[in-house]
Amino acid sequence: MAKPRILTGITTSGTPHLGNYVGAIRPAIQSISDEVDTYFFLADLHALIKCQNPEQVNQSTREIAASWLALGLDPEKAVFYRQSDVPEISELNWVLTCVAAKGLMNRAHAYKAAVDKNAEEGQDPDYGITMGLFCYPVLMSADILMFNANTVPVGKDQIQHVEMARDIAARFNHHFGETFTLPEAKVDEHVAVLQGLDGRKMSKSYNNTIPLFLPEKKLRKHINKIKTNLLEPGEPKDPDSSAVFQIWQAFATEAQTAEMREAFANGIAWGEAKKRLADLINDELAEARERYEALMAAPNEVEKVLQAGAEKARAISRPFIDDIKRAVGIRPL
Ligand code: TRP
Repeated sequence: MAKPRILTGITTSGTPHLGNYVGAIRPAIQSISDEVDTYFFLADLHALIKCQNPEQVNQSTREIAASWLALGLDPEKAVFYRQSDVPEISELNWVLTCVAAKGLMNRAHAYKAAVDKNAEEGQDPDYGITMGLFCYPVLMSADILMFNANTVPVGKDQIQHVEMARDIAARFNHHFGETFTLPEAKVDEHVAVLQGLDGRKMSKSYNNTIPLFLPEKKLRKHINKIKTNLLEPGEPKDPDSSAVFQIWQAFATEAQTAEMREAFANGIAWGEAKKRLADLINDELAEARERYEALMAAPNEVEKVLQAGAEKARAISRPFIDDIKRAVGIRPL
């Protein structure tokens, strides 16, 4: 029997932060095994939707690729590639665009949120909305269906998009014959959604992130900025409403978590709790940070890894896009 295929993409529009690490990178790398085929890719075509700064798209691609490799992604054991290096995805994108219902895209939440925001601000409903944003779920469907992924690990906000991919696949199969596997989203409830400096979800859009590979001093500085209350040393503190504790939990063993819980009850000073948190995170990331810095200084090495990954991906996508095109009537006379 074929191994289950797991696939996920990372949009290359920002610098990886601790929330990405805990919520996506760490579990993805841990999921690599001999029992499954794993596909991880840098979604740089998706980045163009959010980001029209060429330097930023390029820099982010470099940082994300270097981060995943530094954190132990073994490119021999997973297929690791850049979306734009697999042109078959763009070809499939068009085929699927001609299958996807416009009404389905109207319901996509990222698009709807943009329309709602325009309405609130008294703008034209289409103001600032590109066709890229509107068609975003179709491109994501192409990413997923191109490799017949069974399982797509994503955050909650992406479930709808995976369901759309499933919908589009079913519609294609119904019309043109069994072609695509119907993918399923997988949201891991055990994976922490990390709080940011202000206690809200750590996210680039809230500007509350702690970048993953800050030099140690800067890492400590950032951790010192995590919002706390005014309780003095010696006063008991509530761990469950504290971002410091929540982030601690995402990096600590169960025993360490229990210890910190007790330290909160015993009134640990905020400064001390943050110092311990910085030590813990630094210990987990210090070695990877060295590898990261080396990779950032050797972009050609990273590029080589990505090219090799694209070759592996294209060994699948090239023959498959031919089948797909034949199915829709695009074939030699
Ligand atoms: N849209 C996803 C995100 O922003 C990234 C992504 C692009 C993706 N293509 C994908 C995720 C395919 C899973 C499968 O997080």
